[in-house]
Amino acid sequence: VGSEAPNDQFTFGLWTVGWQGRDPFGEATRPAVDVVESVHQLAELGAHGITFHDDDLIPFDASTGERDKQVARLRDALDATGLVVPMMTTNLFTHPVFKDGGFTSNDRSVRRFAIRKVLRNLDLAAEFGAQTYVFWGGREGAEYDGAKDVHAALDRYREAIDLLAGYVKEKGYGIRFAIEPKPNEPRGDILLPTVGHALAFIKELEHGDIVGVNPEVGHEQMAGLNFAGGIAQAMWAGKLFHIDLNGQRGIKYDQDLVFGHGDLLNAFFLVNLLEGGTGAPAYTGPRHFDYKPSRTEDMGGVWASAAANMKTYRLLRDRAAAYRADPEVQAALAVAGVAGLAEPTLAPGETLAALRLDRTTFEDFDPDVAGARGYGFVHLNQLALEHVLGAR
Ligand code: GCO
Ligand code: MN
Ligand code: MN
Ligand code: MN
Repeated sequence: VGSEAPNDQFTFGLWTVGWQGRDPFGEATRPAVDVVESVHQLAELGAHGITFHDDDLIPFDASTGERDKQVARLRDALDATGLVVPMMTTNLFTHPVFKDGGFTSNDRSVRRFAIRKVLRNLDLAAEFGAQTYVFWGGREGAEYDGAKDVHAALDRYREAIDLLAGYVKEKGYGIRFAIEPKPNEPRGDILLPTVGHALAFIKELEHGDIVGVNPEVGHEQMAGLNFAGGIAQAMWAGKLFHIDLNGQRGIKYDQDLVFGHGDLLNAFFLVNLLEGGTGAPAYTGPRHFDYKPSRTEDMGGVWASAAANMKTYRLLRDRAAAYRADPEVQAALAVAGVAGLAEPTLAPGETLAALRLDRTTFEDFDPDVAGARGYGFVHLNQLALEHVLGAR
């Protein structure tokens, strides 16, 4: 379902299909899945690559021998299937040592350990040829305002990211960092809660040139924000280094549903944006699914849900192309004046002084006439909806 494209770069976190369904109220509902099995299943379904946290592959307390064995097993599975590893990341959240954070724990020894854990995994990321290294600071935060000095925490966050980015540059790894915002869960409040906060933080870094964002659909929506809008700003800033696609239904706990199983129209416009449909340059990185197969599903349901992510993306890409090609949509876009926004507000060579002398801009301007214009945005949106529903 949905047409394949040569630029399909569908990737999955090993922790997604590997999630056993444990939640705060219930036990695992599925058996553990071996990493090698996941790689083969995902390859079978047509994925391009996989991503993982250090601990998804190598148990936290593994011996060097065990570590080497696991790395070799994954390497063999990748060689056998042709799958690649475009992104890797660190687990700085599961072990109790990280209960008050990694880079921003109030305990300095924990902060030093966190940096060492990342450094070790960055070497592995370089070995696997990863181009992006994600930083999701799920435990970097607090439940109580008096428990965390946010000013100091941001200093320590910056210190850690700059140290690690400096290391990557010194080693010549060619890896770029992508910070993944999330407003809350597992902490009551997480530092760098939204795309906007992360973009502002990156501006303060010494090595910000190799640091961008990895926004996740549901995380922005948990904060009530428009995901496609956040992505557009990240792209505008040249900072969309990676993306986590999934679904979320409103402001509640992190659902990590299949892509499109939340705000479908926003997902449609997101795909249109990523594919270059708005006229802005397309996003060329992996289409990475970071979802959780619901705990109601058995293993058959896990693989079906993995396939559903890719199907949905392809379908939305087809629907977006049909939307753009539809003459009625083009007419509605013209009425709406969407393309007109690309025209600079001053004419070429025009100065502010000239604008002030131009009587049509103020003295002879009739705000009542301009204010009477209908933009037809509702009609345009209805056309989009009809394309999404396959009614056009
Ligand atoms: C979440 C997060 C995590 C991170 C992943 C990468 O759903 O809260 O998305 O899944 O993306 O751990 O570090
Ligand atoms: Mn999530
Ligand atoms: Mn994510
Ligand atoms: Mn996730």
